[in-house]
Amino acid sequence: MHRSHHCAQLTPTDLGATVSLLGWVDSIRDHGGILFIDLRDRKGITQVMFDPKANPAIGEQAAHLKPESVIGIKGKVVARPEGTVNAALPTGGVEVDATELTIHNISDTPPFPLDDVGGDKVNEDMRLTYRYLDLRRPKMRKNLHVRHKAAKSIRDYFDSQEFIEVETPALFKSTPEGAREYLVPSRIHPGQFYALSQSPQQFKQILMVAGVEKYFQIARCFRDEDLRSDRQMEFTQVDVEASFVTREDIYALFEGMLKKLWQDVLGQDISTPFVRMPFHDAMNRFGVDKPDVRFGMELVDFTELFKTSGFKVFASTATGGGAIKAINAKGLADLTQGELKTLEEIAKSLGAKGLAFIKVEGGEWKSPIVKFFSETEKAALTAQLGVTEGDMIFFAAAPWEKACAILGRIRLEAAQLLVKRGKMTIRHDDWKFLWVVDFPLMSHDEAENRYVATHHPFTAPVAEDAAYLDSDPKKVRGQHYDVVLNGMELGGGSIRIHNPAMQKKIFEDVLKIPADVVESRFGYMLKAFTYGAPPHGGIAFGLDRMCALLCGTTSIRDVIAFPKTQKGQDLMAQSPTPVTAKQLKDLHIAIVMPE
Ligand code: AMO
Ligand code: AMP
Repeated sequence: MHRSHHCAQLTPTDLGATVSLLGWVDSIRDHGGILFIDLRDRKGITQVMFDPKANPAIGEQAAHLKPESVIGIKGKVVARPEGTVNAALPTGGVEVDATELTIHNISDTPPFPLDDVGGDKVNEDMRLTYRYLDLRRPKMRKNLHVRHKAAKSIRDYFDSQEFIEVETPALFKSTPEGAREYLVPSRIHPGQFYALSQSPQQFKQILMVAGVEKYFQIARCFRDEDLRSDRQMEFTQVDVEASFVTREDIYALFEGMLKKLWQDVLGQDISTPFVRMPFHDAMNRFGVDKPDVRFGMELVDFTELFKTSGFKVFASTATGGGAIKAINAKGLADLTQGELKTLEEIAKSLGAKGLAFIKVEGGEWKSPIVKFFSETEKAALTAQLGVTEGDMIFFAAAPWEKACAILGRIRLEAAQLLVKRGKMTIRHDDWKFLWVVDFPLMSHDEAENRYVATHHPFTAPVAEDAAYLDSDPKKVRGQHYDVVLNGMELGGGSIRIHNPAMQKKIFEDVLKIPADVVESRFGYMLKAFTYGAPPHGGIAFGLDRMCALLCGTTSIRDVIAFPKTQKGQDLMAQSPTPVTAKQLKDLHIAIVMPE
């Protein structure tokens, strides 16, 4: 079936031409017997006219059409009558006077409107159930195109830098250190399992031992995590590894990739090099390791000030090794009781004992705690937080990291409330990239009372800190970096350990993984490293997150053709599902249902 043009192509220069078009009926309007159809294909829309007076047979046929039916037409390009020109469309000056109509399929009435505005109002479950209809919406079609363009830009970039794309297995072995894995039973080896790859991390390091030197892959990864708007169980990484590189090389390589990507997809020039922010500063100033620096409202530390305070909660926290932090949400004094309550609940869900506040209204500090504050304390707060009429101050008193995390979250919530009130603007295309660096190599897991790798156990320590690995692992910084954009962690990576003795030490002495477990899980890797492993490092970017930001959407589900719901379901094909007893038997599996 041939088309002479696509539906976004015809303009007044085509007047008089005989054309053939294929596509979907976007809308039908009946103007006193004459039918006007907006015909849509993947490129756009052209108006087609069926005039029953001039051509009774075609009029009879067209009368059966319903929106979303698939048709082919032949006809002549004519100018639209005066007053009916649609300047908003490139094809708005012309229409096609149809002389032939082929109906390929009549559509049932779609369960929701397929335009951007109407479709956005529908609940997402409905859109996911009928994803093939949802994807016909202009916005969703555009998102698929952006994703394609992004992937192509990235491939071209790495190719130009002499990286090669190597595919690695999805069926890997179980290494339960990271996120929870999906297990796949082996039919041939009863009782044994593969795990779906969480990331190609170990393979890409092995590729460095194999002498590939410059590897990348647009790789599918699988993690059995609780799903959120920025998390899917199956997602895509732009995964990279290179030999003989330093952190500086990786920063430059990735800034180059992102610069080209923003240019190719959005035609925008982002400025490089990116700001680098040590992890400690990110936490201390923004309360999070992925700060959104498009707005201020930074955390201010008042630990010293409140050591001698009359407000015992603050004084005891400050003298007991904790921290007192505050933010000034400028102009938020009109916060409602309900909004305040929500913020308190959010703070408590993060382990806060309370969310002390000061409302500055009518020249007065309205707050249940201000009666305990001395004049010196008030003056210090006023000066350091820049307190003026209409402000809302929030406090957190807790161990440093917790106090930062609580106010970091309240800062984001308060910003949203200010945006809602029109008192703050945060533009989605105000691209504030940064590298977060100098993460601690290890974090202490209180519940398990042992150290866990902050990034992953293959990350190399910063050379001058390695001496503390035995005495004080908390002090050791990792050669790890994250790329953050507007509050979202886009990617992360590190320079790796390439010395087998150091890698074994991290596993056994620092992470306290028993030697036999290390051998069974990572023995092959340690062995590979004894055959000439080059120094190497890399990074992985979340392609879904990057595309969501490029498309100006907050949910990665909008840039994945067939995502799972928050509950991990595919509503269209309907999975997961039970399987037959025979399938289970072949896999040597018995089901024990939860109580
Ligand atoms: P990491 O676990 O930080 O690093 O993952 C890298 C990036 O992948 C994206 N991402 C996700 N996107 C959507 N849904 C998910 N469930 C999800 N999980 C992660 C994020 C994240 O920044 N092997 C290392 C990288 C390395 O060291 O080179 C790794 O996987 O954008
Ligand atoms: P209380 O003395 O417990 O009545 O608390 C007085 C105010 O301080 C209330 O608004 C509490 O929410 C708040 N508050 C109590 N503990 C903390 C804390 N650790 N950090 C921040 N605010 C707190």
